[in-house]
Amino acid sequence: MKSATISIHESQKPDGEYGSVTTPIHQTSTFAQHAPAEMMEGTLGKYDYSRSGNPTRSVLENVLARLENGKHGFVFASGMAAITNLALGFLSSGDHVILGDDVYGGTFRLFDKVFKRFDIESSYVDMTVPNNIAKAIKSNTKMLILETPTNPLLKLADIKAITDITTKYKVMSVVDNTFASPILQRPLDLGADIILHSTTKYINGHSDVVGGALITNNEEYSESIAFYQNTIGATADPLASWLTLRGLKTLTLRMERHNKNAKILAEFLEGHDGVEKVIYPGLASHPQYELAKKQMDDFGGMISFYLKGDAETTKKFFSQLEYFILAESLGGVESLIEIPAVMTHAALTPEARQDLGISDTLIRLSVGIEDIEDLKSDLEQALESITENSFLQRKAVG
Ligand SMILES: Cc1ncc(COP(=O)(O)O)c(C=O)c1O
Repeated sequence: MKSATISIHESQKPDGEYGSVTTPIHQTSTFAQHAPAEMMEGTLGKYDYSRSGNPTRSVLENVLARLENGKHGFVFASGMAAITNLALGFLSSGDHVILGDDVYGGTFRLFDKVFKRFDIESSYVDMTVPNNIAKAIKSNTKMLILETPTNPLLKLADIKAITDITTKYKVMSVVDNTFASPILQRPLDLGADIILHSTTKYINGHSDVVGGALITNNEEYSESIAFYQNTIGATADPLASWLTLRGLKTLTLRMERHNKNAKILAEFLEGHDGVEKVIYPGLASHPQYELAKKQMDDFGGMISFYLKGDAETTKKFFSQLEYFILAESLGGVESLIEIPAVMTHAALTPEARQDLGISDTLIRLSVGIEDIEDLKSDLEQALESITENSFLQRKAVG
């Protein structure tokens, strides 16, 4: 099966009892047993308690695993719950973790503020250069978490080159595939040990569920993740699983439109006078355009760009937009816009933001699936208004 078919058919045969075409929501906390500790056998396995497992959740876990070319999927109450599960399951006091230098602010906060207290050390490196990873590995390095494309600077990491290094040094490699989705990139095929997702984003795609996932092919890792998933208990509930499963059915279709819309807008922004610089992996001006073409099937729906001007110009720009909603998060059907410096990346220190280039005029777009002409004219009129404003201001000063 190809991805568009997997999303709709994997583990989703019509229900045996009534022929329901869609997966039932098994909204139950517990399951009847034949006799003490004798569970009923269903098509997806045996269930006794919904924290340990639930048939609706199992369907989502199976679809996600299959989309990533993995064998085992696990879903959680959020992306952060998935990362916490990973860290509590595989790291101990005294261990060292390597993360990207512009890793998602919430992941940075988790390691910097929480796991540090348990003596788990973390280093932040620029993963655009694989050799930086070899240099950062120490005798106690247990795990590497890489995002590609990164958030919000859309830097790419060469997954194959990096997993060759982590395999050599016996370091577990985790790829956060949230920004690309399995439609654009399948890191397990490139040597990653575990895939991580904030399913809140493209996987669900409708901005109405918060969730996370881990996927692996490794039997030993899978057993450990299952044990900690049940023990910690930050699992996805049946309704959230069902909503995510429904969103997932159109993932391939949505990604096609996200890619197409984003490419057109990135080219438009790059040619506009009010814009200083555009970052989009599908533009020839992206420093890793060649890697993007090699590693990804398409370039995704995220664009970052610097406006000409200052924080005031940025504010004015936002106030003129009609369809781009000022909000955190990404990957939904609706277009969103945000300023990483004060929103998603506020957890970073001002110095770290400055070093990375996360300035007050850096804007991140999550391009939705609306009509491209509407999106383009919305950006165009907002850009015209700020360039006009600055022209009038210059005239007033002159
Ligand atoms: C790349 C990435 N990973 C992980 C997360 C955390 O996921 P969640 O918000 O579902 O907990 C986010 C959230 O924005 C993210 O962008």
